[in-house]
Amino acid sequence: MTTLKAEIVELIRQEGPIGISRYMALALGHPRHGYYMARDPLGADGDFTTAPEISQMFGELLGLWAAHAWQAMGAPRRFSLIELGPGRGTLMADMLRATRIVPGFHAALWVHLVETSPVLRGRQAAALGSFEPVWHDSIAGALDGPAIVVANEFLDALPLDQFVMTPEGWRERLVGLGDDGELAFGLAAASEETLRIAAPAGSVFEQPGIALDIVTEVAGHLAAEGGAALFIDYGSVRSGFGDTLQAMKRHEFVSPLTEPGEADLTVHVDFERVGQAVLRAGAALHGPATQRDFLLALGLPQRAQALSLKADATQRTKISTAFDRLIAQGETGMGDLFKVLALSQRSLPPLPGFDLHRLPDQG
Ligand SMILES: C[S@@+](CC[C@H](N)C(=O)[O-])C[C@H]1O[C@@H](n2cnc3c(N)ncnc32)[C@H](O)[C@@H]1O
Repeated sequence: MTTLKAEIVELIRQEGPIGISRYMALALGHPRHGYYMARDPLGADGDFTTAPEISQMFGELLGLWAAHAWQAMGAPRRFSLIELGPGRGTLMADMLRATRIVPGFHAALWVHLVETSPVLRGRQAAALGSFEPVWHDSIAGALDGPAIVVANEFLDALPLDQFVMTPEGWRERLVGLGDDGELAFGLAAASEETLRIAAPAGSVFEQPGIALDIVTEVAGHLAAEGGAALFIDYGSVRSGFGDTLQAMKRHEFVSPLTEPGEADLTVHVDFERVGQAVLRAGAALHGPATQRDFLLALGLPQRAQALSLKADATQRTKISTAFDRLIAQGETGMGDLFKVLALSQRSLPPLPGFDLHRLPDQG
């Protein structure tokens, strides 16, 4: 049993079953034993690989997107370039390298990183130290004046609560102890009277509290102070029911309760509700588009071709493999599974990546 699992078991013995959000918060963010606190989980030797770690092209195109947004904002002389959950700092490093050629952009920006992991802060310092970034524990401290915000695979790491429809109505899904003393899923004894959503018995409803709070905060700030934000993550364009809690270790799915603190725990992002939060906060909504459509519209093929011209045979194979992976289609293909949603101050014109390609069910 992991140290953290023993702590959670003891907590449940003393206080009773805990909600999914509390379990996720402990598994990912426990100050000593949380998953992100003591390790760098990214890359082939880690537990999962993200788009910026697959290819520099991803960050380069996002950098040019950010430079375009900055110009659309009227090229303010000072603005914050904020990344939420920057991992190894690869995305931001690629964005900054690609935008060196944009006159005035680097002189105007101030890099802010919102990161809770001390280990990953160390990796970010190594990748981005020359830009003198400022670190924050939460978004609140980073938002000051006009800003451009990027977040790749950040919202999926934020805790949410789950409810299950039973004949007595919605009941909260909890983590408690089974007869064998191991962690086990169960349901709260009382039904949740505040949820008034019709659904067939057995449906699981997910309530993404923190993610929607953060999106609302970003959208409200940008609506008032100017700027744009880009959220990229796996999830659905339309709200629905279902249990999306998943755990991953060494690139394989594992049970979410087996090794808290040793496996990554994530959920799928409900982009319909994210979009509603953006609009409620008074910002303009762009997309969501699939990652495939977004990257193709931003010129991924042209970028891959330009890189290939200067590459040797081995590098050309790597570029081609990365290209295919970033836009892969199908239920588990990154290009379809990942969605891209942008938001901006309403006065900004349409942003690149969303005008040409629309998802079929967007109307
Ligand atoms: C899945 S990784 C994505 C890393 C990076 N964006 C990339 O695409 O490679 C999630 C990142 O979010 C950070 N993170 C997780 N929960 C967080 C929280 N509550 N506040 C700030 N950062 C958090 C992690 O430490 C990590 O840097």
